[in-house]
Amino acid sequence: MIGEPRLHVPECESTQQLLFDRIDELPDGAIATTDHQTGGRGRLGRDWEDAPGSSVLVSVLLRPPAERQAPELSLVAAAATAEAVEIVTTLSAQIKWPNDVMLNRRKVAGILAEMRGDAVVIGIGVNVNQTAGQLPAETRTPAGSLRSLTGREYDRDAVLAAVLERLETRYAAWRADGLDGVFDEIGSRNFLFARTIRVGDVSGVGGSILRDGRLEIVTGHESHVLVESGEVEFDR
Ligand code: BTN
Repeated sequence: MIGEPRLHVPECESTQQLLFDRIDELPDGAIATTDHQTGGRGRLGRDWEDAPGSSVLVSVLLRPPAERQAPELSLVAAAATAEAVEIVTTLSAQIKWPNDVMLNRRKVAGILAEMRGDAVVIGIGVNVNQTAGQLPAETRTPAGSLRSLTGREYDRDAVLAAVLERLETRYAAWRADGLDGVFDEIGSRNFLFARTIRVGDVSGVGGSILRDGRLEIVTGHESHVLVESGEVEFDR
């Protein structure tokens, strides 16, 4: 079961590290949570900043079956987190491929998947109660929080519970059927679809997220490129 046991500390460098430090003794589904990270880790070597007490900061230890493609888990977690954001806010949330969660065209959550041996630690950061002034200003994708976008404050434990509940369901579907098991959820939340985008030196219009997790970029009449990873920039 995802969420048991739960290690919680008021402050740490990174919840990812809390799990990695005890990875040999912890079972599948163990989570680490905190109210503040002093060295929060983002994708591509970036930092993940939080205002103390404002966010959901959780890492989840999973040991997926060998026949599954573990890197797909970040998309699965993004889908689960988007669903959770939608449940608590009642607003439509999207996935910005590969693993950002968007609400009103702002990034409200990010996913970091780190692997060690057969284990994957999925880190999920959700901006919940930051005011607009507490959000990082210098991000490539504009940041938002549930509060800054809806004008309401949220119970962080309720947001965490929704994330874990959705992740449990989507992880079970993925274990059984791979990305096919969560494909409809991912495809219908594709934020980049039909937007003008760039990944590295490839520019075009966002197409579909394929069943193997790659993103299609339409580069011209009857031409497209498939990308496996990268940072996507988009025109608003
Ligand atoms: C990203 O969008 O770059 C990924 C951000 C992931 C942040 C979460 S917060 C909980 C966990 N601990 C970390 O140090 N990072 C992840």
